[in-house]
Amino acid sequence: MKATAVAPSNIAFIKYWGQKDEELRLPENGSISMNLSNLLTTTTVEFSSKFKNDEVLIDGKKDDKEARRVIKHLNRIRKLAKINTEAKVVSKNNFPASTGLSSSASGFAALTIAATKAAGLNPDQKELSILARQGSGSACRSIPDGFVEWLEGDSSETSYALSIFPPDHWDIADVVVIVSKDKKDVPTTKGHKLVASSPFFAERLKKIKEKIEKIKVLIKQKKFEEFGELIETEALELHAIMLTSKPSLLYWLPSTVQIMRQVRILRNEGLPVYFTVNTGQDIHLIVEGKNVNSLLTKLKPEKYIKKIIINKPGKGISLSNKHLF
Ligand code: PMV
Repeated sequence: MKATAVAPSNIAFIKYWGQKDEELRLPENGSISMNLSNLLTTTTVEFSSKFKNDEVLIDGKKDDKEARRVIKHLNRIRKLAKINTEAKVVSKNNFPASTGLSSSASGFAALTIAATKAAGLNPDQKELSILARQGSGSACRSIPDGFVEWLEGDSSETSYALSIFPPDHWDIADVVVIVSKDKKDVPTTKGHKLVASSPFFAERLKKIKEKIEKIKVLIKQKKFEEFGELIETEALELHAIMLTSKPSLLYWLPSTVQIMRQVRILRNEGLPVYFTVNTGQDIHLIVEGKNVNSLLTKLKPEKYIKKIIINKPGKGISLSNKHLF
């Protein structure tokens, strides 16, 4: 059978960085995110005896490393469905991959639902989230709708994501600024393994539960400025850990830092806008819906900005009948 799914990327406000179990991708801490309405991956999967080998095409290309990770995920699903037929997987992102925009989150979420459906399984949302997590940790947060919490858990069954507020709970936007389409040189999977080498990681963990509780209250009460301060500090804490890991990880480009400085200037001028950034050079600007237009007119210098994608809080995964092959 053939199935197609669409999944959003998500932006973490409180980040997942470090794993207490690498194979199962159990995180060192819980995290909080929002699905992004305009950063989407569409994936079609078909299992059939007509295929001699698994074939994986992502954005029109065959990449052995990516394919191995996808096939490992297909194997988990074949095992659950008790099938051993080969599969064809075709996947398309509507945004650049491996630049800090979490294409592995949307990618493994879409793959999980398309492949389980194509294999004849019918998992519920919690089971899908648990499965997606094993492909890429942050993918578990792209399954449910809107604002999402990934419960840290202490076993595979207890580490999954659930919706804490629907997409229309709060009219905020994530204005994604693409400053370069170059791919990052250290993949996130490698970065997670380095956390313990930073002297600041243990300090981070001491306060993380408190931070998660705090951000949930701020989202609930829609206190934008306190929320913004917290997410920007959290992003800088994540990068402080990356910068002080051994080896040190530096994901920003000069243009990333220029945009950060611009955000602070705009804030001083009275526009409440805050940044967050993951493992890559592209940067997320979080702003209230009513201020998107004034942010767009003031964002400078244009020479650093390759593309802007405006996102609202988005839905989670969905099935589609528009197959890619
Ligand atoms: O799911 P991964 O292995 O791509 O890790 C995501 C890590 C960050 O993007 C830096 C933070 C997060 O919570 O999304």
